Amino acid sequence: MSAEANDPRRYAPATTRNREAILDVLRRVLPPEGLLLEIASGTGEHAAFMAPALPEGLRWQPSDAEPLALAGIDAHARAAGSGRIEPALLLDAASPTWPVPRADAVFAANLVHIAPFRVAEGLLDGAGRVLVPGGPLVLYGPFKRQGAHTAASNDAFDWQLRLQNPAWGVRCLDTEMAPVAAAAGLVLDAVIPMPANNLTVIWRRQR
Ligand SMILES: C[S@@+](CC[C@H](N)C(=O)[O-])C[C@H]1O[C@@H](n2cnc3c(N)ncnc32)[C@H](O)[C@@H]1O
Repeated sequence: MSAEANDPRRYAPATTRNREAILDVLRRVLPPEGLLLEIASGTGEHAAFMAPALPEGLRWQPSDAEPLALAGIDAHARAAGSGRIEPALLLDAASPTWPVPRADAVFAANLVHIAPFRVAEGLLDGAGRVLVPGGPLVLYGPFKRQGAHTAASNDAFDWQLRLQNPAWGVRCLDTEMAPVAAAAGLVLDAVIPMPANNLTVIWRRQR
């Protein structure tokens, strides 16, 4: 991520590569109105690009656990000129209490492999707490299936991550995420293949 002096906006080049494909999925699975809570917004570029392209009745609530990220997220939102993006909130997905009590959808991109597994557990638990019945949790990123990598590039990426931090790593959708999601009251709805060997996974809060 990069930043210019006096401009709090940061940039992650990957967001411009994946944003169209993710937006395409969001358009298909989000409700037409209500609040979308984004966890781990990072630079805020996804919010700035996607919120104006979604139905008018949807408000986008960005958040991140890193206090220094919030000004940059808000600056991207201002530059996008979208009145549908709320001021960014400090939110640690691993915390048992989130500052948003209710959401019609929860979205997180590229979080669970770049954080200890307790963050994935907190994310699934939290989505189970705040989502309305039937509301989707949308997760984008690389995942293993049945304990195995789906591509050699993900295997190599997993090694890189674990070298950076032994608590990080590509998670298995079936053996690691699924039991936690089930305990949180989330039902798997769809697993959508994405470019560059990523997946978008949709769970829904049990009705
Ligand atoms: C790789 S970036 C992804 C950002 C953005 N979602 C994207 O796809 O470009 C990971 C983000 O997760 C945030 N993060 C790390 N641990 C977190 C936690 N426990 N709760 C919420 N956000 C967290 C980091 O501050 C960082 O902004």
